Amino acid sequence: MNRFAVMTSGGDAPGMNAAVRAVVRSGLDHGVEVYGIRQAYHGLLAGDIAPLSSREVSGILQRGGTILQTARNDEFKTDQGQRKGRRRLNEHGIEGVIVIGGDGSLRGAHALHRMGVPVIGVPASIDNDIWGTDTSIGVDTALNTILDAVDRLRDTATSHSRAFVVEVMGRDCGYLAVMAGILGGAEVVVTPENGVTMNEIAASLEDAYIRGKSHAIAILAEGAPFQGPELANFLQQKHIGFEIRLTILGHTQRGGSPTAFDRLLATRMGVYAVELLLDGHTGMMVARVGREQTPLPLAECTAKTRQITPEYFDLARILSR
Ligand code: ADP
Ligand code: F6P
Repeated sequence: MNRFAVMTSGGDAPGMNAAVRAVVRSGLDHGVEVYGIRQAYHGLLAGDIAPLSSREVSGILQRGGTILQTARNDEFKTDQGQRKGRRRLNEHGIEGVIVIGGDGSLRGAHALHRMGVPVIGVPASIDNDIWGTDTSIGVDTALNTILDAVDRLRDTATSHSRAFVVEVMGRDCGYLAVMAGILGGAEVVVTPENGVTMNEIAASLEDAYIRGKSHAIAILAEGAPFQGPELANFLQQKHIGFEIRLTILGHTQRGGSPTAFDRLLATRMGVYAVELLLDGHTGMMVARVGREQTPLPLAECTAKTRQITPEYFDLARILSR
C-alpha cells in the first residue's frame, strides 16, 4: 500500500487529535503517504481529501476536538452514497482508510469494507458504548470533566443545603452517569438501564435530607426516560426538604485537553491501526482488552452494544448511603 487516508467522524472526542497524529506519523514512518479526509463522510463525498505532513500534526497532541473536523452525513448511509465515496477514494488514489469515531462511524467504516476498501476502525466516543473494547478514546477525559463539575456543584450545594440534578451525556448509554455517580459520590444515579422512577429519586433525596445530609446530587443520563427539567420540576413540587437546582453539562463534556490516559490510548490505537492496515488486515476495529490491543471484526463490534458491568450499578447504590 502506498497511500491511505484517515478521518475523524461522529461526535468529537478528546484524544481524536492524538490519534490522527499517531496515524500520520506512523504511516510516514512506514514510508506511506497519509491523506486526511476533512469532515468525515461528508468530506469524503465532497472529495475534501488532502495529504497530511508530519508538521501538520504538530502541536495537536494536547488539543481537544479534531483538526480534521467531523460531520454527520445521511447520504453515506445509502448504497448510492457509499458507491460515491468509493469513487472519491479511487479518484485520489487512496488504497485504505482509517476511521476514528463512534459506533455509527464504525458502521460507515464497515460499509466501506464491504465495498472492498481496506478499512480499520478506531473507537472514539465519550459514550463508551462501543462493543468489544474496554474503553474508547475520549471516555476518560469526559468522565474527568464531569467529575470536576460535580465536585464544584457539591461545594455550592452544601453551602445552600440544595439538591442538584446533573444531566450528563451518553446518548442511550448510562456509562458516564453511573461512573460519575460512583466517583462523584452521588446520592442517586438514573440511567436508561436501571429503571429508577421519579418517585424513587424523590424518596432517596428526601431520605438524604432527613438523615442530615447538607447536599444531594442526582446524576441523570441524557438517555433516561425523563429529562433534567422534568425531573427538577417534579422534585421541586414534592417538597423533599432540599431546594432543587438543575445543571445540564451538555457539550462541555466533549471539549478540553485529553487526559494522559486518553493521549496514550489514542497514540497506541493510532499506531496499531496503521500496522494492521499495512499488514493487510481489513474490516477490523482496534479494541483495548485488558492492557492489550487486539483486532476485532467491525461486523461484530457494530452489531452489538457494550453493556455496563452490573457491579457498577451495585457500587453506585451501596455507596450512595
Ligand atoms: P457516532 O460515530 O459518534 O456514533 P453517528 O451515529 O452520528 O455518530 O454516525 C456518524 C456518521 O457515520 C453518520 O452521520 C453517517 O455518515 C455514518 N453512519 C452511521 N451509520 C451508518 C450506517 N449504518 N451506514 C453507513 N454510514 C453510517
Ligand atoms: O456520541 C457522543 C454524543 O456527545 C452523545 O453523548 C450525545 O447524545 C450526542 O453525541 C450529541 O450530539 P450532537 O453533537 O449532535 O449534539
